[in-house]
Amino acid sequence: MILLDGKKTSNDIKDEIASEVSQLVANGGKKPHLAAILIGDNGASETYVNAKVKACLEVGFSSTLVRLDTSVTQEQLLAEVEKININSDIDGLIVQLPLPFHIDEMKVTESILPSKDVDGFHPTNIGKMALNLPTYLPATPAGILELLLRYNIETSGKHCVVIGRSHIVGSPMSILMARNTNPGNCTVTLTHSRTKNLNEITKTADILIVALGKAEFVTANMVKDGVVIIDVGITRIKSDKTKSGWKLLGDVDFKGVKNKCNFITPVPGGVGPMTIAMLLKNTLLSSKSNLY
Ligand code: GUN
Repeated sequence: MILLDGKKTSNDIKDEIASEVSQLVANGGKKPHLAAILIGDNGASETYVNAKVKACLEVGFSSTLVRLDTSVTQEQLLAEVEKININSDIDGLIVQLPLPFHIDEMKVTESILPSKDVDGFHPTNIGKMALNLPTYLPATPAGILELLLRYNIETSGKHCVVIGRSHIVGSPMSILMARNTNPGNCTVTLTHSRTKNLNEITKTADILIVALGKAEFVTANMVKDGVVIIDVGITRIKSDKTKSGWKLLGDVDFKGVKNKCNFITPVPGGVGPMTIAMLLKNTLLSSKSNLY
C-alpha cells in the first residue's frame, strides 16, 4: 500500500507557486491576490478559510478576508461580491460554502465574475470544464487529478466509481475522470443516495473516489484488492485525545481497507491540503490573465 501524501505534494506545489511568484514580482509584476468571503461562525468553514489565507501568505500572495454576519441579506452579500468583481487588484474570489439557508447559493455563484471564479463553480466554468476547454477546475477535483498524476497512477481504461454527486466534488469529478485526458479516460460510474446495490458496484472499482460526508462509510467488504482509494470526506468529531478537541474522520474506514489498497489517501493529510494548493494555482493563473 502506498500512501498518497497530499501534505507533501501540496507543499511541493506551493514551493513551485512561491518561486513563480517571486519571479513575477522580481520582474515588476504584482502579487496574485485572493479574496475570500466568510459568512457566519461555522467552525469548519472558519478553519478552511484560515488555512487558505495562511497558504496565501506562504506563497507570497496578497489576501483579503471579508467576514459577514449570518444575518447578512442576499443583496448585501451580492454587493460585497460586486465590490470585489470590480477591484482590479483582486485576481480571485471565493465565497466559502455552505451559506446560511436564506441565501440562494446559485445566485451568489453566478454573481462572481467567471474570470475571478477560482473555485471553478460558476456555470460558465463548469461548462468549459465539461467541454475540455481551458478554465479553472474546481479545486478539490483538480487536487485529486494532481495526486493521480504525480503518483503516476494509470487511469486510462480503468473503472472509476465516484460516491456522491455534490456540485463541488462528486459531479465535476465524474466529468473529469471521463474526459479524454490524462488523468482521465476512465469508465465512470457516479453513485449516490438512490443507487441500488452500491456494494456490488464499489467492488468493481479500480479507482474509488468517496465524497459523501459520512464518516467511515466505506468498509473492507466494499472494495477489491488492488484498488486506489481517494477519500474526500472530513467529518469533525469531538475528541478529548487531541489538543484541538476535534478529531477528523474520512468517509473510508482507513484501518480496515488499507491492506487491500494499492494507493490510498489519508485523512487528514490527503485531499484537504491539495484543495488549497489548487486554489492557489487557479489564483496564480488568474493573475497571469491566461484564461479570459
Ligand atoms: N466548502 C467546502 N469546500 C469548499 C470549496 O472548495 N470552496 C468553497 N468556496 N467552499 C467550500
